Amino acid sequence: MMLQKFVDALPIPPILTPKWKNQFYTYYQVNMTEFKQSLHSELNETTVWGYEGSYPGPTIEVGSGEITFIKWINNLPDKHLLPIDFTVHGAHRDVPEVRTVVHVHGACVEWESDGYPEAWFTKEFKQVGPYFRKQVYRYDNCNHACTLWYHDHTLGITRLNVYAGLAGFYLIRDDRERILNLPSGKYEIPIMLQDKTFNKDGSLYYPKQPEKPIRELETSIVPEFIGDTILVNGKVYPYLKVEPRKYRFRLLNASNTRFFRIKLDSGQLLFQIGTDGGFMQHPVGVKEIMLAPAERADVIIDFSNLEGKNIIMVNDAPAPFPTGTPTDENTGTVMQFRVTLPLSSVDTSVIPAHMRPFPKINGHLASKIRYLTLNDNMDKFGREFMLLDNKQWDAPITENPILGSTEIWYLINLTTDTHPIHLHLIDFQILDRRDFDVETYNKEKKIKYTSTAIPPEPQERGWKDTVRANPNQVTRIMMKFGPFTGLYVWHCHILEHEDYEMMRPYIVIR
Ligand code: C2O
Ligand code: CU
Repeated sequence: MMLQKFVDALPIPPILTPKWKNQFYTYYQVNMTEFKQSLHSELNETTVWGYEGSYPGPTIEVGSGEITFIKWINNLPDKHLLPIDFTVHGAHRDVPEVRTVVHVHGACVEWESDGYPEAWFTKEFKQVGPYFRKQVYRYDNCNHACTLWYHDHTLGITRLNVYAGLAGFYLIRDDRERILNLPSGKYEIPIMLQDKTFNKDGSLYYPKQPEKPIRELETSIVPEFIGDTILVNGKVYPYLKVEPRKYRFRLLNASNTRFFRIKLDSGQLLFQIGTDGGFMQHPVGVKEIMLAPAERADVIIDFSNLEGKNIIMVNDAPAPFPTGTPTDENTGTVMQFRVTLPLSSVDTSVIPAHMRPFPKINGHLASKIRYLTLNDNMDKFGREFMLLDNKQWDAPITENPILGSTEIWYLINLTTDTHPIHLHLIDFQILDRRDFDVETYNKEKKIKYTSTAIPPEPQERGWKDTVRANPNQVTRIMMKFGPFTGLYVWHCHILEHEDYEMMRPYIVIR
């Protein structure tokens, strides 16, 4: 469907107010419901799912170290909004259709509050998954200032729950951030990038079958979902009126499968100041920013001296990435900035020269090296699906780092897609990527490198929780496990992959 661009203003999700707050802790309640919302002024209202009646959900803002309790409440209908495939793990007919569990992506959190995929719950907690432990989650927020986000994580239906609208921003602030004098208040704006496809009546379209339908099944999971329309903060191709000054944007790719490679059509630089895990050491001026699903970039854009100009944010990442269809006039357009507001006061904010030290983890400290493949597989219906280390979700746990230990993981990608690999609990550093010969690996299980090590891109030189593992490359990451022990997960953040076996439990042990 062709929807006119730049006719609706960019919505900015409200900041959630706590139910209680005292000097010791903060308590929020977040209700999940179904409602109708206008996603474009020429489109009928769309039935979506959201948190606190809002899609995207309200932004949760907490301080670093602030002990925060959140009761996530499922008040959704009993019937799912989107087509369920009952053959994928966790979504068999023996569980209720509508289940939810919330994960704060990038959070440093005890495992019982991490939103384990089998810790799901239904309305009034009437039914719960086998790993459900508590109704009120506790977040210690032991991160520095950073851009996190919360979203659904239910085993087997994450792609549908998130596509229906269950996602929002979770920002952590700290004193360091306060003294940096960044653009703030109305000059600091979250940008959630997503793609969707609409039916004529304005309802959300999600495919019931892959391109080559599976005859034995009424509904089958698809290997990827590629929408034909781009939304920002839940609006189709919105515009934002800005003053001729600096703005800070928290970019987040919250799509199911689509990658974004963002550019401004004015050719101007984006000044990136933060990665997934918070501030980088120094800002980097870049012409384009690559964001796989779940990746974030904290950027400053300077509109000074651009009075009267319209600037379009564009995208040129093929979907699926990297070998899929190139973008067109629709999927290649994201949103528009209109430099039409008068400067309301002198812009005294800065792009700091230095944000925070980025201490490199010492590789010699690594007590364990793990070689982990990303593979293709075929199911009994002839459908292709992806695995981590050739193991399904239900296979015994194999990644069991010791609390406080440092490990290096080699992500050996044997598939033809780039997979955004995400680990819960910790932030890691990307060491490098290196080309290797897949055929030799398949035959002899040996890595034969065909290039030298390629250092991470300038925009990746900071704390990360999601890394793009490219085809024909070994991607190496290094991390220290802690401060909690317990059961977490690591997975591909392409939601159609995650929902169909490209996810593994891992456990931090004492
Ligand atoms: Cu963004 Cu395991 O999640
Ligand atoms: Cu994947």
